[in-house]
Amino acid sequence: MDLSYKEEALSAFLEKFGDTEGVRCYFAPGRVNLIGEHTDYNGGHVFPCALTIGTYAAVRKRKDRRIRFYSVNLSKSGVIERSLDAFQPLQDDSWTAYPMGVMWAFEKRGFQIPVGLDIVVNGNIPNGSGLSSSASLEVLTGYVLKEEFGFPVSLVEIAKIGQDAENNYCGMNCGIMDQFASAMGKKDNAIFLDCATLDYEYAPVVLDGMKLVVTNTNKKHKLVGSAYNDRRRECEEAREILADACGIKTLGDLSNEEFEKYKDAIKDPVVRKRAKHAVYENNRAIRAVAELKAGHIEEFGRLMNASHVSLRDDFEVSCEELDILAEEAWKVPGVLGSRMTGGGFGGCTVSIVKDEAIPDFKQKVGDAYKKRVGYDCTFYVVSIGDGPEEV
Ligand code: GLA
Repeated sequence: MDLSYKEEALSAFLEKFGDTEGVRCYFAPGRVNLIGEHTDYNGGHVFPCALTIGTYAAVRKRKDRRIRFYSVNLSKSGVIERSLDAFQPLQDDSWTAYPMGVMWAFEKRGFQIPVGLDIVVNGNIPNGSGLSSSASLEVLTGYVLKEEFGFPVSLVEIAKIGQDAENNYCGMNCGIMDQFASAMGKKDNAIFLDCATLDYEYAPVVLDGMKLVVTNTNKKHKLVGSAYNDRRRECEEAREILADACGIKTLGDLSNEEFEKYKDAIKDPVVRKRAKHAVYENNRAIRAVAELKAGHIEEFGRLMNASHVSLRDDFEVSCEELDILAEEAWKVPGVLGSRMTGGGFGGCTVSIVKDEAIPDFKQKVGDAYKKRVGYDCTFYVVSIGDGPEEV
């Protein structure tokens, strides 16, 4: 948590909306996924954790039904006005679609928002980095509504509402992982989540003498309208074929051996590769969590590397920039594992690096990246934080 972002939000509130009397401030985190990628919408397992970076808001209730938004990060957009009487699913292409979508999803569930709000947001998640700035904004909004209006919603419900907003208001067909990780974050723990049932378990991430390092390609990824939705369709096609062939409900129901036994029912080699990733990655995530719990961090790291290879070759959601970061990281002594994280096509890698190897890691990976890509990547040594709270 970095309270200077809250202070900045408050100053902007004063500047844009006149005074700060009665303003309350909130925070919701971004996330990084350690393993289990593109498994959430396949009924599989994921293993993300909330970060100590995220989105802050300064909020005050209004007397009418207007909503005034201002983002310190996107200050060029200025104050954006909306109304509780004019929701526009799939039509708002500004950043306000995320909070408006959450309000819409609350109303859809019968929680009537009585009055509008003035809201200033300010975040320290690099935009477009794949660390879920949008999910953090959704969870933040859900938490604000819960606290300001006393709606009896659990944090899991807030995560589901966030996903509903993103799917049906913003038009991005994401799974539940990002919103769940932000809403349910717990300091120093990752969340082992079964996306088929939403059963979850916290697992302490004990990194003795090591750190989690997130490396940003600084290549913006754009998931809406991109290959993400194509991947979902391909996975759905595979699921239908395998449901006929062996009676599964989701790709997450299959062991690797069962997949090998039935895979020939999938005639399209591309669809078969997609399904292979979803099945193997789910089983890899399950195994990785068991290894971590047993203290076998080196094996956990090897599974992270295997996850990257599968995302690169079978699921084909990596890109040259992410591959360079991961492959250069693998060469550095003291790196236990490194992989792309999040949706892909840009964004970040996540690596586990021994403390004493971090300077070498930054230098070697940073230099190779600059040489091959032409611009710099950025390193963040991150910490695992809690879910949303009033600050
Ligand atoms: C994005 C989506 C998530 C998940 C990941 C890939 O972050 O929002 O739901 O599918 O991609 O694991």
